[in-house]
Amino acid sequence: MAFVLAAAGSAVGLGNIWKFPSEVAQQGGAAFLMMYLGCCFLVGFPVMVAEIAIGRATGKNPVGAFKALSPNPIFPLVGLWGILCGVMILSFYTVVAGWSLGFVFGEAAHFLGFQGAAEVLMVVGPGTKTAVFAALFMAATTFIVSSGVSEGIERVAKTLMPLLIGMMLLMIAFVVTREGSGEGLAMYLKPDFSKVDMSLVFQALGQAFFSLSLGMGALITYGSYMSRKQNVVESAAWVTLADVGIAFLAGLLIMPAMFVAQKSGIQIYKDASTGDGVAAGAKVLIDEDGLVFTVLPQLFESMGSGIGLVFGVGFFVLLSMAALTSTISLLEVPTSYAIDELGMSRKKAALMFGCVITAIALVISYRLSLIGTFATIFSTIGLPVGGLMICLFMAYVWKTRHALAEMEAGYPGIQSSLFAKFWPPLMAVVCPLLILTVLVLTLIQQFQ
Ligand code: PHE
Repeated sequence: MAFVLAAAGSAVGLGNIWKFPSEVAQQGGAAFLMMYLGCCFLVGFPVMVAEIAIGRATGKNPVGAFKALSPNPIFPLVGLWGILCGVMILSFYTVVAGWSLGFVFGEAAHFLGFQGAAEVLMVVGPGTKTAVFAALFMAATTFIVSSGVSEGIERVAKTLMPLLIGMMLLMIAFVVTREGSGEGLAMYLKPDFSKVDMSLVFQALGQAFFSLSLGMGALITYGSYMSRKQNVVESAAWVTLADVGIAFLAGLLIMPAMFVAQKSGIQIYKDASTGDGVAAGAKVLIDEDGLVFTVLPQLFESMGSGIGLVFGVGFFVLLSMAALTSTISLLEVPTSYAIDELGMSRKKAALMFGCVITAIALVISYRLSLIGTFATIFSTIGLPVGGLMICLFMAYVWKTRHALAEMEAGYPGIQSSLFAKFWPPLMAVVCPLLILTVLVLTLIQQFQ
């Protein structure tokens, strides 16, 4: 269980609850959901198996793992690229995680009648409050990674996941009874495939990699700590299901909640009349980075002060914890690299990267537009590029048959399984071709 819990802890985070619902709302609902699910199962799951197998076979960090399996000089660079992506993702991730932490106190202040404090704490905007909470969040992450307390992560993940699911189910039950929710549910669940275009597929693929923690070596690193008694394929399947399941629930909560909020006068989408160059009828979110932070507090408000307090504080505590188990995995990647390859102590390595990342996060705190820029470069593009290279490495360098032989440890019947039939062609052809097509066509579209 330990590996599945830690890896699920890495996967489940802001990607599921903050980013995914915004993407769905922005990209027209169910069509995005369908493409996202397709990307998770067809590309994400096979890549996850590859990452874990590479990690477990070598017991090394992403750079060391590629070095250990082949003398090819290109692939350690893929590991380094992953580390860079991890550092940059963590820099903006911690800003958003800091918002969530601020909302824990903000919701408490609001329901206990300290309106002045609540107004300061519940702000999703640039400034000192954002910077302070981002730095706090990074300090906590750095402390945990530097002391190497892995059992803590598993215990957190174990209690967190059921609580998070339980709480979201209750909130969904509450929200669907309210006026306006039907519109949100319809948008989320009724596919309109005329909405599918290249940019939607590009976002869905990037979101799948981000949400599953793939493409930058997080699961190579976690895989390197995995025991040979465990079944790699089954573990990857559990992590994928948990992650996709929680993202799906987050959509089921936030899409209706958005329309409920809209009914009570909160503007969610820009319209043509705002003069922001928005085409009539186009769905452009007013504040993509803040969707969960505007829509859910509104929902807690409508629950009344007693229940609102419990749900408001509880939800943001859980979201912050989910974010923490993700930031830990993001920082663990550069840290394990510095320990193995640069001979640093764990404390020094974690502290060094922690400081660099905090510094970048402070800049982002005052310039929030960097969140979108970094997310596009290092996540939506960076992670699928990493994933593409991992597939190529698996199929043409290390070879899937060697990986399958390695995965026999913990999964004795693997050679004759259905998985052993489908996975090699997925690694060799389907996944790389899909990723490459999406990236190239998106690039072409940019220049048209
Ligand atoms: N998967 C995490 C989330 O959804 C983010 C993450 C990305 C973590 C990449 C590790 C590596 O919140």
